[in-house]
Amino acid sequence: MSEREPIGVIGVGWVGLVTAAGFAELGHEVYARDILSEKIDALRRGEVPIHEPGLEELVAKNRDRLHFTTDMADVISNAQLLFCCVDTPPTYSGDADLSSVERVVEELGDSTDHALVMKSTVPVGTGRAIQRRRADVGYVACPEFLKEGAAVQDFMKPDRVVVGAGPESADFADRVENLYAQLGAPIVRTDVASAEMIKLASNAFLATKISFINEIANVSEELGADVEEVARGMGLDERIGPHFLRAGIGYGGSCFPKDVSALKQLAGNSGYHFQLLSSVIEVNELQKRRTIGKLQKHLGSLVDREIALLGLAFKPHTDDIREATALVLAHRLMGEGAAVRIYDPVALNNAGDMLAGATTCKSAEEALEGADAAVLVTEWPEFRELDWAGTVKDLMRNPLVVDGRNFLDDEALRAAGFTYEGIGRPAASAVEA
Ligand code: UDX
Repeated sequence: MSEREPIGVIGVGWVGLVTAAGFAELGHEVYARDILSEKIDALRRGEVPIHEPGLEELVAKNRDRLHFTTDMADVISNAQLLFCCVDTPPTYSGDADLSSVERVVEELGDSTDHALVMKSTVPVGTGRAIQRRRADVGYVACPEFLKEGAAVQDFMKPDRVVVGAGPESADFADRVENLYAQLGAPIVRTDVASAEMIKLASNAFLATKISFINEIANVSEELGADVEEVARGMGLDERIGPHFLRAGIGYGGSCFPKDVSALKQLAGNSGYHFQLLSSVIEVNELQKRRTIGKLQKHLGSLVDREIALLGLAFKPHTDDIREATALVLAHRLMGEGAAVRIYDPVALNNAGDMLAGATTCKSAEEALEGADAAVLVTEWPEFRELDWAGTVKDLMRNPLVVDGRNFLDDEALRAAGFTYEGIGRPAASAVEA
């Protein structure tokens, strides 16, 4: 049985807000603290500053149990389990920057009957280092596995919950387990270092799957196989599984690039060269560049060519553009002398001057008008709904589509007179011949 107990959430970013709203939905009083007063003011007014399906509704529904504050003392005096959800961005060397976590540890002050429950992704060994300094405070590693765009659902129906603690924090770990018990997910109870490693290894493995299928896609293009068929056939093997076998123009987002580099660096710092991860990263970078080659194959020089980029967010159903492939592509294309026109249904406002030099558009049609080629970067459903055979064909100067997510109906596009290039699908010329 889950007992209701007050919960502290420190850092009300994407992870923190989903965690806070999720626990409030489960009936707990939640004291959520962020250092940004504008953010807290907005949340108190009921405004949710993040595009995440279902989150606004969850926050509104549980308003009475959600107490937003900028004051750490409010959290410490009301809750003993303090979920640390602050950011751990990569440094220039690929290591994780732990300064926000360090600040939280400092801010615990002289409180002793509390436990820090680490949701933020941290290098293996972080928990042990914190415990050495703060043996008077409990420590539980409870990494988050939420996917952007499905985070609320992932909170309510996790595949598993990982709870890592040493014997001295066993009671706190039991309480964390209890909080999640009603969700019915398997709970992996382990030591702190293993919990930290489960998180990094999971993301590194998923990224490896993506780079692997992307290389299969590239070879398939050479050999005339269709990666979609290959992935389907592979995925039915239970040992492989069907997920994360979608070939595309590379993974992005706030987690995979950061966590793969962090694990590689962590291994390197311990004296172990993690060769496989070096390749995973390199394949992902090369994958973004192949799009330029596909455009050049049909257009020759890209100087003064108008290229429409459909999608900016690193994946659909989010406005997150961290490590978004579209940003890299836009700059590479401009570097080749092309004019870039870009449209995304929700993410353009976040670009600031990151898209300087490109034209941002209010609709897909506006981006496609007069274009020499369209590149589908993010698989937003509305891009499939476009009237490709009619309006789009009329709007574009040259009917060339590079589908970076194998998302569009290739047969319909070809039938409508488009030159279609997917990822790991038989080359246009091979099919047309
Ligand atoms: C990921 C993990 O899935 C999640 O468990 C962790 O907590 C945070 O990192 P997220 O970054 O939200 O979540 O994105 P995810 O849906 O996993 O996709 C990551 C990237 O991989 C996207 O750019 C996506 O387009 C790409 N991807 C995913 C592929 O290219 N092919 C696939 O088959 C799957």
